[in-house]
Formats: sequence, structure tokens, C-alpha cells
Amino acid sequence: MSDGIREGRDFLVSLRGGVATAVRKMRKRVVVGCCLGTLLGIFVFTSNNDLIQRMTPFFVTPPEDISCYIEVSTPGSVETLLTADVKSAPKGSKNIFFHETSCFGDEGITLTPRQACAVESAAKMNPTMQVYLLVLSHSNFSAPTKETVTVLSAYKNVKIRRIFMEEYVKNTPLEEWWVSGILRTSKWPRSHMSDILRYLTLWKFGGIYLDLDVVVTTSLEKFTNFAGAEDWEDVAAGVLGFGTTGLGRRIADACLRDLKKNFRGNVWGNNGPGVITRTLQKLCATKYARDMTPHRCRGFTVYPPSAFYPIHYKKWKLYFDEKEKNSTMSIIRRALAIHVWNKLSSSEIISPPSQVPYALVASEYCPKVYTHSGKLF
Ligand SMILES: *[C@@H]1O[C@H](CO)[C@@H](O)[C@H](O)[C@H]1NC(C)=O
Ligand SMILES: *[C@@H]1O[C@H](CO)[C@@H](O)[C@H](O)[C@H]1NC(C)=O
Repeated sequence: MSDGIREGRDFLVSLRGGVATAVRKMRKRVVVGCCLGTLLGIFVFTSNNDLIQRMTPFFVTPPEDISCYIEVSTPGSVETLLTADVKSAPKGSKNIFFHETSCFGDEGITLTPRQACAVESAAKMNPTMQVYLLVLSHSNFSAPTKETVTVLSAYKNVKIRRIFMEEYVKNTPLEEWWVSGILRTSKWPRSHMSDILRYLTLWKFGGIYLDLDVVVTTSLEKFTNFAGAEDWEDVAAGVLGFGTTGLGRRIADACLRDLKKNFRGNVWGNNGPGVITRTLQKLCATKYARDMTPHRCRGFTVYPPSAFYPIHYKKWKLYFDEKEKNSTMSIIRRALAIHVWNKLSSSEIISPPSQVPYALVASEYCPKVYTHSGKLF
């Protein structure tokens, strides 16, 4: 189940793609609903009305487990990050953040090799930056993930920390809004939580936010106040960087304002890419990403698709296509980081050793995780 959510979140970077997914899901639900409806009709002929009441849960998607967003006490073994603790809180703006917003249950916190690859690549390519993987789950790591965490611990700049939402949101512009239970209005609370957290984290600490389906292929140490376009029109939210002062601060403030004002629980991509897109449209006084030059945007840089989304989501299969690898690799070589569209690609298996572009990139930029993943990356 957590996979679905992770994929969902990853796909948020595509507004239109996201909506398409929602529509597909909706269609699926309608089909399932119709089948169940037919069955129900048959039952109802032979039974009474309270059968309908008992059947009702089958017609709604089971709610996602978001208990870990609210609970505060359950002990886990992941070290906690407390904002109020000046010693342990992230400092400066030389930080890279990833978030895992699944609560997980008894199976424990699970990181896929590809997610761990994102973390390793960030740490490897940015040795002077701190790389935080923030988790909300109260569980311990699952057994395989414990091993993965050991692999990652070779990088001294990787920090996996659990956050308590109640504490995390304190004294921020989102405090009252969060406490009001806004997420209850969401159809996809885990992915919308991921949207909220990326803007909140950058507001709190500054630095760079990355989706967990990114491979970092260059140093991002000098990058601040930037985002990436996924095509000529849309700014995406899978890679974002805000400084702690000046322009970065203004953008972070504006993003939180937009999030509160325009949050829609029933629109998939409204709160992730939607927030940064609307904020930049205002700042830059222009509608499309292609026109958002640093000059128009007071110094904020919107990178072209080639920087972070070099392969368009419609062509995601190129990451797994050995025949086209020369041309794909030459495109990838020009990127700063690559977003691999996990929502679409997660079920595509890679069995090392492999020559598909994703495997070539992984073996170069997250060699420890890639090697450790054995026969299944
Ligand atoms: C997690 O591990 C700790 C020991 O490291 C243990 O005390 C705790 O009960 C575990 N929690 C869960 C939810 O399994
Ligand atoms: C890719 O490039 C290599 C080295 O330049 C070449 O030997 C190989 O034939 C190329 N592969 C394809 C599929 O074009």
C-alpha cells in the first residue's frame, strides 16, 4: 500500500499527469463500483436494507493510514529531530531534504533501493551538505531496510530523522491551519502531506528539497533559489531550493500563503507543483515556465526541463531501454539531477548487472546501494 502512495507523491510533479492518474483511478473505481453495485442489487432483492449499510465501505477507498501524523508518543528506534533543540536542528542552508510520509505498520519503515539511491547520490555528490531523510512513521526499520540504512551510514552526511508533526509545525505560518485538521479534507493525505512538508521544511530551514525518485548527478552545493520546469509551461515541485534570507525567504513565505489559501484536498496536483507555479507566476509576472527568466523573477532561477526532468514523463521508458541508451545517456549527462518518474516506472524491474540507463546512472552515482541491491534494483 505504501508503494502506491509513494508513487502517487512522486508523480505529483506532473500537474497534468497527476490529473490523468486521478481520472484513471476514478475510472477504475467506477468500474469496481459498478461490479459491486450489480452484486449488491442481486443481494438486495433477497435481503433487507441494512445490507446496503454494511456494503457501503466497499464503495469507498479505504482511508490511508495517517495515524503517525497525529500520534506523539509511540516509541520507535529512529532518532528524532526536534526543531526546538538547537543542537540537532538543521542549520545554515547547506541542507538537502527528502521526506517519507508513509506511516508503515508492523512491517516497519521500508526504503526501496531506488529511494536509498536518491539519498546516496545526494550525499555522494554533495559532501559538504547535510542530507536529511525525514520520516513521519513511528515504526522501526524493517529488516532489509536496516541493512540499507547501514549501507547509507557510510556517508557521514546522511541523517535519517523522525519528525513529530505537532512539534514540527509549531511557530510556523501553518500551525493553526494544520491543527484545524486540514488533511481530513484530502483524498490523498499522504501525498498532500508530502506537498505540505516540502514547503514547510524549506520555510523552516532553507536548503534543497528533492523527491525520493531523483538521482543527483552533479554537485548542487552552489544552488539556491531555484526550481525546475518539467516542460515549457509548468514548473514542477520535485526539486526546489530556497535560501534562508532575502528572496528565498520571500518565496518560502509566499508558498506557505498560497498553500493555505489554495489547498484543495480533491485535486491531486494542486498543492505541490500548483503552489510553486502560482507563486512564481506572481513573482515573475508571467504565466509560463519558459518565460520565467532570472531577470523577470528577481533572481530566482527556473531551470529548463533538461536540468532535472531531462526525460519527459511520457518517455519514462527510455530509462529502461538499453537499445536507446547512447542517446538517452547523452541527454542525462547534461542534467544536474534526473527525475525518474517512479509513479510510472516503479514496477519496471532492473536486474543487475544491467546496461539500461537507470542502472548505468545508479552504478555511477549510488554505487553502494546499487551493489547492495543484489539482483533487484
Ligand atoms: C522498536 O525498537 C525498539 C528497540 O530498538 C523497541 O523498544 C520498540 O518496541 C520497537 N518499536 C516497535 C513499534 O516495534
Ligand atoms: C553506443 O556507443 C558505443 C560506443 O560509442 C557503440 O560501440 C555502440 O554501438 C553504440 N550503441 C548503439 C546501440 O548505438
